[in-house]
Amino acid sequence: MPGDTDLFEIMQTMRAMRRLKPDPVPDGLIQKILRAGACAPNGGNTQRWRFLVIKDPKIKQAVQVYYKRAFDEVVGPRYLKSAPPPGVSREQYNRQHAAVEYLTNHFHEAPVWIVACIENPQADVQGTAASTRASGASIYPAVQNMLLAARALGLGATLTTRHLLYEKEAEAALGLPSGVHSYAILPIGYPMGKFGPVGRGPLAEIVYQDRWGNPYKGL
Ligand SMILES: Cc1cc2nc3c(=O)[nH]c(=O)nc-3n(C[C@H](O)[C@H](O)[C@H](O)COP(=O)(O)O)c2cc1C
Repeated sequence: MPGDTDLFEIMQTMRAMRRLKPDPVPDGLIQKILRAGACAPNGGNTQRWRFLVIKDPKIKQAVQVYYKRAFDEVVGPRYLKSAPPPGVSREQYNRQHAAVEYLTNHFHEAPVWIVACIENPQADVQGTAASTRASGASIYPAVQNMLLAARALGLGATLTTRHLLYEKEAEAALGLPSGVHSYAILPIGYPMGKFGPVGRGPLAEIVYQDRWGNPYKGL
């Protein structure tokens, strides 16, 4: 719900919102989201992040072609074969699959995309520009801040990286110069459905104390 400001409530209901209305989103809200992104931690505070706001339908359409190709070739078949993740029923998982397919077909119709990038020409020269843990660690906190901000403003968004299966082609369609790489595309818009609780497994299965496999006693 717009206006929610309790951080824990926002986190617990910040589902991937894949069905979006095409209605325009005011720049004032996009600006708030971007400011939240730029508050995030980043290595050495070097702030190599760059955010490309895309509204141009032609650019979105050109990238959607690769996003869909990656679904048809890789992601769609994988979904059909995989079991539901922890904390998610088969029915919920089927609904997720339908939503993923919906976003695939309507990716370009989201009124705004924020493409989260890192500019680091030096890394390109050294051949270390590809998504390493270190480079990702300096952009995904900003991405998460932006997702949380969108949720707090009542806007739907999804962290997507599937375009990276066609990285070269998608980055060319995005018009990224050399030395700049994309790490996520966030399609943003007013959601068609309602925000709701995320499905996750129990903490007891993923948290240990002192020794690997030893249950954490604080739960
Ligand atoms: C690294 C990463 C990449 C993702 N890429 C995509 C994507 O390309 N398309 C998509 O629809 N969702 C994508 N997601 C969203 C996940 O599918 C989603 O977070 C997960 O299914 C949990 O869903 P929920 O937050 O709605 O509970 C991605 C999430 C992460 C963290």
